[in-house]
Amino acid sequence: MKRAKITVIGAGNVGSSCAVWAAQQELGDIVLVDLPDMADKTKGKVLDLVQCGPVDRFDARIVGTADYADTADSDVVIITAGLPRKPGMSRDDLVQTNVKIVASVTEQAAKASPNAILIVVSNPLDAMVYTAWKKSGFPTHRVVGQAGCLDIARFRAFIAMELNCSVEDISALLLGGHGDDMVPLTRYTSVAGIPVTQLIPQDKLDAIIKRTKMGGGEIVKLMGTSAYYAPAAGSVKMAEAIIKDKRRIFPCAAYCDKEFGVGGYFVGTPCMLGKNGVEKVIEIELSADERKMLDSSVSHVKELVALAEKFLG
Ligand code: LAC
Repeated sequence: MKRAKITVIGAGNVGSSCAVWAAQQELGDIVLVDLPDMADKTKGKVLDLVQCGPVDRFDARIVGTADYADTADSDVVIITAGLPRKPGMSRDDLVQTNVKIVASVTEQAAKASPNAILIVVSNPLDAMVYTAWKKSGFPTHRVVGQAGCLDIARFRAFIAMELNCSVEDISALLLGGHGDDMVPLTRYTSVAGIPVTQLIPQDKLDAIIKRTKMGGGEIVKLMGTSAYYAPAAGSVKMAEAIIKDKRRIFPCAAYCDKEFGVGGYFVGTPCMLGKNGVEKVIEIELSADERKMLDSSVSHVKELVALAEKFLG
């Protein structure tokens, strides 16, 4: 049987963590790519990871490289390349630098793996997914952004902390861009089927929503750089859904045209992930307030995309 092949671009914190999780789960053969001047470091990280195999008992063929020829015919390409945030920066401050990096790595990766599904993680996320779509020339269903998996993971973690219950029983939903104006949806969030609004008083829920929206910044402030474990865990979950054709439903940055009246941008929406990438974007009913929040988040995404296009020239 053919083994899946996963390329992870960027051997920094997020990329390396993706490689660790994908290897531990034996998702397939893994290629970790970084720039030529990082080749030794990338190879070293990979060797270190390979040596976890006997301890954790996983078999994985992992390659560390700067050569896109090694990535040829990947099924899934996870793009993490780009600068992370530093304290005081917003994700948007990264657009000028990261748009060029994401454009360049996408072109090389798409050429080597013309049938791959791209999962974009680089920030500012919604503009970087758009950039990867444009530069790859891939159909929209084969380009998707990781953000919702991370953002609902934060939302779920904070709800579990508040209720002192298992994170496993919490199911949450969120829409919009991966910025501080993302839209966590309490109306679609439940704990073992019980609406969260019946379990947590509104003022506490408001505080959890605020913390979720600022969740990335909270970690940047503490660590001096962006989060990486949870972003990587979310990315690998998406890769797994695609590789195993699980048809799982996650909020992801997917191409929305008529959906939610977005008009041709990638924004966070519930979607089904399977072997073709985004199998389906699921439109949900929104209240007037939720609609207003989504519209404001989407207009921010549009501004960011315009900025990215300007820097790309
Ligand atoms: C975060 C970054 C990775 O939200 O976007 O932590």
